Amino acid sequence: MAGYILALDQGTTSSRAILYDDHARPIKMVQQPTTLQTPKAGFVEQDAQQIWQTQISCAHDVINQAGLLATDVTSIAITNQRESIVMWDKQTGKPLAPAIIWQDRRTASYCKTLAAESAGGGAHSGSTDEDDDMAHEVQRITGLRLDPYFSASKIAWLLENDPKLSVRAHKGEVAVGTIDSWLIYKLTGGEHVIDVTNASRTLLYDIHKLAWSEKLCARFAIPMNILPKVLPSDGDFGKTKKGLFAKQIPIQAVLGDQQAALFGQGCLDAGMAKNTYGTGCFMLMNIGQQPKLSEHKLLTTIAWQRKTTTLRPDNLSFDQIVQSGKRMLQPPKKEVTYALEGSVFMAGAIVQWLRDNLGMIQQSGEVENLARQVNSSEDVVLLPAFTGLGAPYWRSDISASITGMSRGTTKAHIARAALEAVAYQTYDVLIAMQKDSPHPLTELRVDGGAANNDLLMQFQADLLDVPVLRPRDTEITAKGAALLAGLKTGLYDEATMQSSWQVDRVFEPSMSADEREQHLYKWQRAIARSLMQM
Ligand code: G3P
Repeated sequence: MAGYILALDQGTTSSRAILYDDHARPIKMVQQPTTLQTPKAGFVEQDAQQIWQTQISCAHDVINQAGLLATDVTSIAITNQRESIVMWDKQTGKPLAPAIIWQDRRTASYCKTLAAESAGGGAHSGSTDEDDDMAHEVQRITGLRLDPYFSASKIAWLLENDPKLSVRAHKGEVAVGTIDSWLIYKLTGGEHVIDVTNASRTLLYDIHKLAWSEKLCARFAIPMNILPKVLPSDGDFGKTKKGLFAKQIPIQAVLGDQQAALFGQGCLDAGMAKNTYGTGCFMLMNIGQQPKLSEHKLLTTIAWQRKTTTLRPDNLSFDQIVQSGKRMLQPPKKEVTYALEGSVFMAGAIVQWLRDNLGMIQQSGEVENLARQVNSSEDVVLLPAFTGLGAPYWRSDISASITGMSRGTTKAHIARAALEAVAYQTYDVLIAMQKDSPHPLTELRVDGGAANNDLLMQFQADLLDVPVLRPRDTEITAKGAALLAGLKTGLYDEATMQSSWQVDRVFEPSMSADEREQHLYKWQRAIARSLMQM
């Protein structure tokens, strides 16, 4: 079967479109930057129209630049920045407010108040029953934490701060969705749907019952009629509307970007983990078909839900395989796969900050050479809490700092400390993950832009004391979504999955235990000081 998969990758700082051939090889990529607005302290917004315009223009350009026609494209796959929300008018399709981005912290005090009220300080005063504690309830139902990172408080903020919007929402005139939902709405000209992995990041979705939680919608005062219909990750999301492309292309796979990376890294078995170094840094471990809740401040999230549950020889049904005596390529998998996740808010974004705010480098890629000008960061520690700290600290009230500087500190020390901060945060997440998971981590697969930084990857392997495996193709996010679409349509099979992941380099740990301890002590001291100051 011949054909191409068009993967749309809508990230925090850019929109991209990548075409994959019938062997899941990327043949062309087009990228356009998007603009983050920070109108007030804690606010992080984007123009929803710009998100759409850049994404559709990349899609058209990539087909043209590859010398193909839309009729060559079998299927569209979407992967996207998660938790960010867009609210739009159901009638006109126009956004009713700027998109509120996952990094936005405007609802930090709102989340704190909700937690305090339900824990006995306010509306539910006097309650000692954990069922009344909203933070616990949120974790039990959604696997997440009561934190401004997720979508629910962002939606609630929009409705609370615009009474007219709230009235319209209750009348059913308003639609809300994550970025996948917004793109599908625009692509299809009206479908209001969301994939289950994105739904599982809203703080409104019950990951056990696989349905919107009435209880949480009520707690956040969000009318359920504004929420999209939830579909499996390889569901039928609709076809592109007439006239957008030369043919109506079906959208057949949608995954949040971190879940797409887990799939693209081939982490299909429980215990396999990946770390993506993008704007933030997100470590996900496949934990199989049971949604185990974290006891160490990590998140439990849906990795994927597949309608097509298993890869079978000759596309036979399970019964046909049993009757024919053929062996299945994989044992049948249940529909939903879960993951444990450690979300670190600042990774590549720290390097962008060195570039854009401090002017230390012209291009992000220059940071490695700058950091290599010194052998060590000495006592310098960069605590990158620019938007608070995510896992495993979850402190939206902490701010960023650089400590341990002396008269001899140069920008090279700061650059090195910046890279080290990325690795330290990953270490903290890994320790929490090891405590939560019955599976010891024996290797870590890495991807994302900063995975190409050898200095960082070696330091990462040294700190974690496990081999770090970098695949040849570090643009795994789009590939993950493309693979899922290709498997669904029959363009790809098990062999494609296996051949699509090839190792580029293995970073073996080579640091002595003493040295590792010294590094970790430096970091932990800086964290402790910062937490104590608050
Ligand atoms: O949860 C936020 C995440 O999806 C953003 O990903 O690649 O833009 O850092 P990225």
